[in-house]
Amino acid sequence: MTFGIVKPSLLVASVALLVLLSACSPSASPGPAAGTTPAGPATSGGAAVVVPAPYKGMKDPFAPTDAAAVSAGQAIYTQRCQTCHGDKGDGKGPAGSALNPPPANFTASPTKGKFTTAQDELFWRVSEGWPGTAMPAFKGQLSDEQRWQVITYEWKLGGG
Ligand code: HEC
Repeated sequence: MTFGIVKPSLLVASVALLVLLSACSPSASPGPAAGTTPAGPATSGGAAVVVPAPYKGMKDPFAPTDAAAVSAGQAIYTQRCQTCHGDKGDGKGPAGSALNPPPANFTASPTKGKFTTAQDELFWRVSEGWPGTAMPAFKGQLSDEQRWQVITYEWKLGGG
């Protein structure tokens, strides 16, 4: 039996192994690009609007005849939208009269028509807000379903 003697070949092998291990540090993986959503250009009046991804082409999963969705949307509307857009949806809420541009009127052109022709545009505005106007962004406060419910209620207010 021999103690205290390390064979030189074993020592070399150990050092080589250590060097090999330290060289094998995991490579840094490139993180996903920050998920920024373009808020879109601030347009007013009749300027053409291009709805950005991921909103482009989205459709309201609810119909204005869906009583449950309308009533859920009404509760949200009363709490968060009515002060500007008004209890009738005509844009004449108490906090709306001082705003320029004024809050959208869901009962008249051009917004009224969008409930059937441009639901993606409405959902985009409610989600991201409308730069250059007082319209706030609600995607951090309301789920996708809640945003569609409140849009469905506004559609109903607009005569849908
Ligand atoms: C602080 C006032 C204010 C509040 C609160 C507010 N809005 Fe608005 N909203 C506006 C203004 C101002 C506009 C811009 C109108 C324009 O430029 O034509 C607007 C625009 C919109 C549009 C776009 C209409 C279009 O023709 O494209 C929708 C949809 C909308 N609001 C829905 C909502 C909903 C839903 C809520 C509540 C969850 C809400 N708003 C809360 C002021 C407000």
